Amino acid sequence: MTGETFLDSVSSIEFYVGSARQWAFFHEKAMGFTPVAYAGPETGVRDRVSYLMRQGTVNLILTSFLDPSSEIAQHVKTHGDGVHDISIKVPDIEKAIREIEKRGLIKPSKIKETKGNSGKLRGSTVRTYGETVHTLVDYSEYDSDIPPGYELVLERDKPVETGLNKVDHVVGNVEDNRMDPWVDFYVKGMGFNQFMTFDDKDISTTYSALRSKVVEYNNRSIVFPINEPALGLKKSQIQEYIDYYKSPGVQHIAISTENIVKTVSELKERGIEFLETPPSYYENLTERVGKIDEDVEALKKHSILVDRDDKGYMLQIFTKPIGDRPTFFYEVIQRKGGTSFGKGNFKALFEAIEKEQAKRGNL
Ligand code: FE2
Repeated sequence: MTGETFLDSVSSIEFYVGSARQWAFFHEKAMGFTPVAYAGPETGVRDRVSYLMRQGTVNLILTSFLDPSSEIAQHVKTHGDGVHDISIKVPDIEKAIREIEKRGLIKPSKIKETKGNSGKLRGSTVRTYGETVHTLVDYSEYDSDIPPGYELVLERDKPVETGLNKVDHVVGNVEDNRMDPWVDFYVKGMGFNQFMTFDDKDISTTYSALRSKVVEYNNRSIVFPINEPALGLKKSQIQEYIDYYKSPGVQHIAISTENIVKTVSELKERGIEFLETPPSYYENLTERVGKIDEDVEALKKHSILVDRDDKGYMLQIFTKPIGDRPTFFYEVIQRKGGTSFGKGNFKALFEAIEKEQAKRGNL
C-alpha cells in the first residue's frame, strides 16, 4: 500500500434482526458473548433496541425495531435477519473522508456527531454491496468504548466465554459478474489491496461453483473476501444466498480462537450446529497438510477442517445458518501461520454444504 493508512480495524458489526432480545440471548448463552450495553426506550432511544455484545475484541450490535415503518423493519422484511453495518474504526474521520473522496469512486456521507457523557463520537457512512454499509467511526474525542445512547448492562454472572476472540474476516456475497466491481470499490475506492483470487477451478464441485477474491487493508487488519456465483451443473450456494437474502450481503463472519478444538466442543455442547465433514476427509489429512499439532481424531470428531499454505496452516469450521433463511453463518478459525481461507477445503466443505442445500430442495 502506498502512503499512510487512514482506516484502523473492524470496530463492530451490527445485525438488523426480528428480535434483538432473542439474538442477544443466543449470542450470550450459546456463543459466550457478554451483553455489555443496551440502548432502547429506557435509555432515551425511541425507535429501536440494541444490545452490544462483546467477546475478546469482537463487538456485535444486535438491533431490532419498535415500529413497522422503521427502516430496520423494512430491512428485516426484505432480507431476514442479517448484517447491516460493518463498522470500521478510523483514527481521524476528516482524513479518512478526504482520502476516500480523493480516490473519486465513493462518496462518504457528511460527518454525523453524536454527543454523550464521554465526549463526542464522529462517524460517516459508506454504502457497499446490497443494503450493507460501513460506518467509519472516530473515537478520538470519545472517552469510552460504549457508544452514546447505550447504558451498561448491570453486571450479572458473566457468561463462560467460548474463546472466540477476534474478527478474522467478513465475507460478502455479490451477484454474478459483480465481484470485480466490488473489488475495485475496495481497492481503488478505499485503498485496500487485493491479495488472493480463487476461480471456479479451485472452488467447485460437480454441481456448484463460486469465484472469490480477497481484499485486505494494512497487513490484514481488515480482510474482506468477496464471492460471486459461478456456473455449475446446479445452483451455486452464492446464488442460493442471494435468492433468499434478496440482494447481495454478508455471508459469514470468521472469528478466530486460540484453541479451535476447545472452542468448537464448547459451542457444540451449548447447541451450536456445525456443518459436518465426510469422514473420508480425514483419511489422507496428514498426507495433504503435513504434520500438525492437533490430534486428528479430535478434528474428525468435531468436523474441523485443515489447510496449509507456504506460511503455515489454519483450522476452520462453519456453522449452519444462524437465522431462518439459509443466508448468514459463522466460521470459527484458528491460524497457525497459515494465511489462507481454506482453498484446499472448499471441495470438502462444498460437498457438506450441498448436502444441506439438497435437503432444502434447492440443488
Ligand atoms: Fe471464511
